[in-house]
Amino acid sequence: MINYWSTVTDDELRMTDKAVEFLQGEFCPPGADPIWSTEYFRWKLGSSNPAGKGYLSLAILDDRVIGTISIMKKRLLINGYECMGGEVQDAYSAAAIRRNSRCINLSQKDSDPNSYINKSIFGRLTSEVRERAEADGISILYATPASENSNSYPGFVKKLGFFDCKGFQVESFSRPTSKLVTRKYPSLSFLRILLRNIEISSIALQKIIYSQGLCRNRTFENRVPSADELDELWIRLKPVKGFSLIRDASYWRHRYLEHPIAQYNFFNIRERGHLVGIIVARLFLASGGKRVVSIAEWMNDEHIPFGYVLSVVMNYYRDSGVEVFNLWAERPIQKRALARSLFLSRVGVHIILADTPDARSLQTKAAINNFYLGSSDNV
Ligand SMILES: CC(C)(COP(=O)(O)OP(=O)(O)OC[C@H]1O[C@@H](n2cnc3c(N)ncnc32)[C@H](O)[C@@H]1OP(=O)(O)O)[C@@H](O)C(=O)NCCC(=O)NCCS
Repeated sequence: MINYWSTVTDDELRMTDKAVEFLQGEFCPPGADPIWSTEYFRWKLGSSNPAGKGYLSLAILDDRVIGTISIMKKRLLINGYECMGGEVQDAYSAAAIRRNSRCINLSQKDSDPNSYINKSIFGRLTSEVRERAEADGISILYATPASENSNSYPGFVKKLGFFDCKGFQVESFSRPTSKLVTRKYPSLSFLRILLRNIEISSIALQKIIYSQGLCRNRTFENRVPSADELDELWIRLKPVKGFSLIRDASYWRHRYLEHPIAQYNFFNIRERGHLVGIIVARLFLASGGKRVVSIAEWMNDEHIPFGYVLSVVMNYYRDSGVEVFNLWAERPIQKRALARSLFLSRVGVHIILADTPDARSLQTKAAINNFYLGSSDNV
């Protein structure tokens, strides 16, 4: 039996309770912290976002949501120029319905009933949110599908006019702790205490080496810097080339402090009291209750060694029961510091962009792009 669904433009966020019921019910992994809530949609797509209100399209069948896609607006700095961008998020469709269904009416963009956007829930919703966002002047739209084999990547790249931007050389790094190793390999459990002690001492030692040696004049503290300090740091560090979100005080406040579900820790690095770096990390439960610390984002003066950033954060969480640390990093220079802290490069992160002239200007590999896990909705 073919199901006929309709699309609803819900930029005013009237049906987010039904969207949350669908998303939490079908896609939140067991044991994990909640991912969606109505407050979450209001936070990212409502007017409290300093970048402005976003876009939400839903597929509806029998008064139930069976598909979602959203665009969260982002203020961007592209080669030194401010522009409005957006991240495509919440690409989900009900597994039981996605292959045996059709949209009740044809898209105005395509009159062929068998075309991709007339049968694919994902295709249709994405084409609709993209059209509204571009009509409002959004010139860079990005998404971060998990891999080339992920469910959304082929649709984005082959059917919906997105391209995999090779200008970004972002990789996902992870650092398992002894807790994860002994859980995965129970035969090593007799070594648990020994491995744990070696690990704690090596993390503490690395921190001591940095704090008493190379980074003697720096202090590290766990608190939120003032808005003036954040603005000053951003103005000093904002890049003149490549891709960056605008990371002023209002960005940090909205993205992390006002997030209605996730709780983040702010860390400051100071020299003689002056803010020279900020790091944001989050401890949360992933699938199966796995305790993960994501180093979501950082912004620091060039002369602060990345190894120091890693060592202070890892030292802070060393007794938290964390099973894995993870982050996204681009600069090849960070690879060495990551290797020293036993971070393994897992996979390249695919940052795909809607094909526009502005987006094509980011294809060059020469520029350093500032793209972090926290630049996406993955943390
Ligand atoms: C991501 C997601 C929304 C993509 O939807 P999808 O239906 O799997 O992917 P597509 O819409 O691109 O469709 C894939 C194929 O099925 C076909 N198809 C889709 N709907 C169809 C339908 N109703 N009837 C017949 N064929 C259909 C498409 O034409 C396409 O085939 P083709 O490549 O030969 O043209 C969905 O897989 C999902 O919810 N996955 C779980 C969550 C997830 O991974 N989200 C991504 C986060 S980045």
